[in-house]
Amino acid sequence: MSSYTEHVTRVLATDLEHPALGTVAVLTFAPPEGQERRPATLGPRSIEAVTGAIGDALDRADAGEIGAIAMTGTGKVFLAGADLSMFADPAAAQHVGPMTRAAHELQVRVLSSPVPILAHLNGVALGGGLEVALMADVRTAAPGVRGLAVPETGLGILPGWGGTTLLQSVVGPENAVRMILEDPARDRQLSAEQALDSGLVDALAPDLDAALEEFAALVAARLDQNADERPAADDAWPGRSAPLPAADTPEAEELRDALDAAHGAETRRTWTARLETQGAPAAARALDLLQKLPGSTVTEALARESEALTELVGSDASSASLYSAELLRRGKPGRAPVEGARELQKVGVAGAGLMASQIAAQLAIGLRVPVVMRDLDEDIAATGLAGARDVIAQTAAHGRLDEEAATTIAASLSATTDLAELAGCDLVIEAVPEVLEIKRSVFAELEGVLDADALLVTNTSSLSVTEMARDLDHPQRVVGLHFFNPVAKMPLVEVIHTEKTDETTLATALEVVRRLRKFAVRSADAPGFIVNRLLFRVLGGVLASLDAGADPDEVDASLDALGMPMRPFTLLDLVGLEVADHVGQVLREQLGDRFHASPGLSAMAERKARFTERSKNSVHPPASPTVAEAFGAGGTEDLSQVPVGDALLEKIQDGLAEEIGLMLGSGVVEQVEQVDLALILGAGFPRHRGGITPYLDQVGASQRVAGGPFHGERFTRQG
Ligand SMILES: NC(=O)c1ccc[n+]([C@@H]2O[C@H](COP(=O)([O-])OP(=O)(O)OC[C@H]3O[C@@H](n4cnc5c(N)ncnc54)[C@H](O)[C@@H]3O)[C@@H](O)[C@H]2O)c1
Repeated sequence: MSSYTEHVTRVLATDLEHPALGTVAVLTFAPPEGQERRPATLGPRSIEAVTGAIGDALDRADAGEIGAIAMTGTGKVFLAGADLSMFADPAAAQHVGPMTRAAHELQVRVLSSPVPILAHLNGVALGGGLEVALMADVRTAAPGVRGLAVPETGLGILPGWGGTTLLQSVVGPENAVRMILEDPARDRQLSAEQALDSGLVDALAPDLDAALEEFAALVAARLDQNADERPAADDAWPGRSAPLPAADTPEAEELRDALDAAHGAETRRTWTARLETQGAPAAARALDLLQKLPGSTVTEALARESEALTELVGSDASSASLYSAELLRRGKPGRAPVEGARELQKVGVAGAGLMASQIAAQLAIGLRVPVVMRDLDEDIAATGLAGARDVIAQTAAHGRLDEEAATTIAASLSATTDLAELAGCDLVIEAVPEVLEIKRSVFAELEGVLDADALLVTNTSSLSVTEMARDLDHPQRVVGLHFFNPVAKMPLVEVIHTEKTDETTLATALEVVRRLRKFAVRSADAPGFIVNRLLFRVLGGVLASLDAGADPDEVDASLDALGMPMRPFTLLDLVGLEVADHVGQVLREQLGDRFHASPGLSAMAERKARFTERSKNSVHPPASPTVAEAFGAGGTEDLSQVPVGDALLEKIQDGLAEEIGLMLGSGVVEQVEQVDLALILGAGFPRHRGGITPYLDQVGASQRVAGGPFHGERFTRQG
């Protein structure tokens, strides 16, 4: 039975008279009555309403009753696109075929409309919503509008209601290819102003009246310009030209060039092919459709689009991508303050090193209260303060703070070596060296200067928060906030409670994360928390094969099919070998020999070596020869027993499933979704794998080692 409930979009139809355009049929998309805060989306009945209303207006145009059609939306939304909750329900997903047919029939029909069509984007137009706007001859957008994009390839599908076929005719091949293939991978959506630059919209207009003025002027201009163009259809409004390039034309060549343009160290074509081998076929399918456009009829191109969409909907990648999208949507920092959080009027940071200065900057920006950093070393204090102020200047330079606010915030930061200056802080977070005794002494001295209810927060990445709080007078006010480096960019903070942490402390910690506009994932106080524990299960498997003598290049490439953003050797270099060696040993001591302590890694760390050679023009930096030397590659008698390639990947899948099962069983994390959210945001695990647990279900690892799938049948249905 279907669990999907559609919130049906309404289309309000009115006529208005315009001196130049004549009678304009105005279609306004609106959410269901009484649900004005909900965005208008496209489910099966909504698409029927939308295509039906546009079809009715076209009937009137054919009958000579109207001179133009205008579409717009209400509130902050034009049309927010397909209703994603529909895809999560396999019964409802069956509607995609008929919905696509309805959209395509209309895309073909509008080409022969005898009157010009306007879409005024008063707000968000995403995916299917933007594809409806592509039916228009002219698009205007209200200044300041955000959320214009076709994000489908990031959801494991592709713009399938005419977008893949028609977008290039509006914005040109380069912009279309970027919008369809690359923007979704970067979470990029256009603003009205950017859309104007790319040609997605023709003019900015604050409201429909102003939009109609722009429309009337453009309609007249198009009629003048279009004399030499191929018309879109016989008897169609003559300002509209054929949307697809003919074969072997300069336009066709431009499209091919756009598909072969550079994407980092590879081309867009090789990049999408690589994504396909990593289980994400949508971008490659979209690229294939784009390259077949020249010389095709619109009907042929739409038929291919429909076939590709049907194939992708319900694929492993799309179901896992939709799961990730939903996790990210629900996990987003909320609007309402966390209940029970205490007010903070001044906060402190112990340390002014790498993490401390970055955290101080984020606290100052997010909380807008005085922030005091305290280090033992005067020079480090001064450097840390300059670093924090630099972060604020960069935030302003990116347009995320106005100059005045940036100046005030920079002035609210200070740095000192004097412990007494932390007095009066309602919260102090420590980011001093990762040594338990140092952390304990810092908390002890802080208890001496702070009020009894001030929060003591640690940014430790591997030490026990409980141990840190053990000898304190008020251990209930201790909590962990594990920030990731670089702090400004990394969206995740692990929030660590001990058995003694009280509710106000936890609520306040969660509120701090919310005010910093970051995602909070809660973890109990257990070694490595969530992200590092699982990352080191992965890295431990890799290092174990290396220690057993396997070929470094083969080992490094073994996990490619999983689709991580970088190979393990690159990750090790990024983490830093000393840190990796230390954390690996801590985890092994505390969690047992599921975690591998690697003599090879210790040797590499001691030599201050790197796993990879620096390289700008290769997708994966090559392994450094030092690795083979330090690990004694080839020195084992029976290398056939050492897992590499698929065998290593399977071993790592099983390791992850086992570890996640243990974490859930012991209450380190309460819900499996939190594991995925943490891995996506904290370690860049692939969204098209759903983070990790949908993938572990899909490949059977959870069934092999964790007693069954993590998500029931949801990700194993298609077998
Ligand atoms: N570097 C990372 O990527 C990263 C990521 C997440 C968490 N962490 C954690 O953050 C913490 C700090 O790491 P970092 O890389 O910023 O180290 P860092 O060495 O850059 O900074 C530590 C600073 O603490 C100062 N310090 C030492 N004793 C002090 C005391 N008693 N009072 C005040 N200051 C004192 C030192 O002078 C130094 O400036 C560690 O617990 C680490 O595990 C680091």
